[in-house]
Amino acid sequence: MVAHTADGLGGNAEKAVADEDALFPVPDGLELAEAAALFDDGATAIGLAENAAIKPGEWVLVEAAGGGVGSLLVQLARAAGARVIGAARGERKRELVLSLGAELAVDYSESGWREQVLAATDGRGPDLVFDGIGGTIGREAFELTARGGRFSVHGASSGAPSEIDQAEAERRGVTVIGLDQLFGFAATARPRKERALSQAAAGLLTPTIGQTFPLEHAADAHAAMQNRQVIGKTLLQVQPGA
Ligand SMILES: NC(=O)c1ccc[n+]([C@@H]2O[C@H](COP(=O)([O-])OP(=O)(O)OC[C@H]3O[C@@H](n4cnc5c(N)ncnc54)[C@H](OP(=O)(O)O)[C@@H]3O)[C@@H](O)[C@H]2O)c1
Repeated sequence: MVAHTADGLGGNAEKAVADEDALFPVPDGLELAEAAALFDDGATAIGLAENAAIKPGEWVLVEAAGGGVGSLLVQLARAAGARVIGAARGERKRELVLSLGAELAVDYSESGWREQVLAATDGRGPDLVFDGIGGTIGREAFELTARGGRFSVHGASSGAPSEIDQAEAERRGVTVIGLDQLFGFAATARPRKERALSQAAAGLLTPTIGQTFPLEHAADAHAAMQNRQVIGKTLLQVQPGA
């Protein structure tokens, strides 16, 4: 079984209390660690993909594509028949993004990434952008979005949300799917969590467990995440019987 803790906040502990109706059975064919890595991010990514109504053949740019949600969005966009550009920092994440099915992986910590995106999309820019970073990168990704495209916001990992000028969005015909799309997610998450788990068990969605730390080293795990040294999902391992 996997679950959120009853307080909804989570934490690092050997034992935690969960509401009975918050428990999710781990389907056959899926490891407990994979289910733990997937059921939350998977529900989020599936909800974002549904809201954005990804179309076959369109270009999709996924920011932070080597992270938990981003690595799943790459796979969902590919499964929907889109052509995917993953954007991430560093060679390891670029390689991961390509292995997940992206046609192009750009490194936004280096100059020239925007030009690479424009070149791949014949100068139009991506039809759909998933913005989980905000700040300067989010703003630049918004500027890249094709006329008539969609810009879907789900986070601000940089520390600041993307500043979107509504008048500019209207002028370019860009539909902004704002952060408020997340507000209803928790209440409707159960079927999406179940779908994420069953898709993973069927081999259609793969969580990327980039690194696992023993619980005693939880501080190292948090430091690695904060320093952007991790790829995919980071897990804490509790000793059996603890
Ligand atoms: N997980 C969920 O279910 C969920 C639900 C709602 C909203 N969100 C939001 O979605 C976003 C992604 O969530 P996630 O769970 O996928 O997180 P994650 O796995 O930690 O990925 C976040 C990514 O953000 C990038 N990043 C850019 N600037 C950063 C900075 N200054 N510090 C740290 N990371 C930075 C990092 O990739 P690079 O180093 O490659 O840039 C990192 O891989 C977050 O903003 C989160 O709040 C997540």
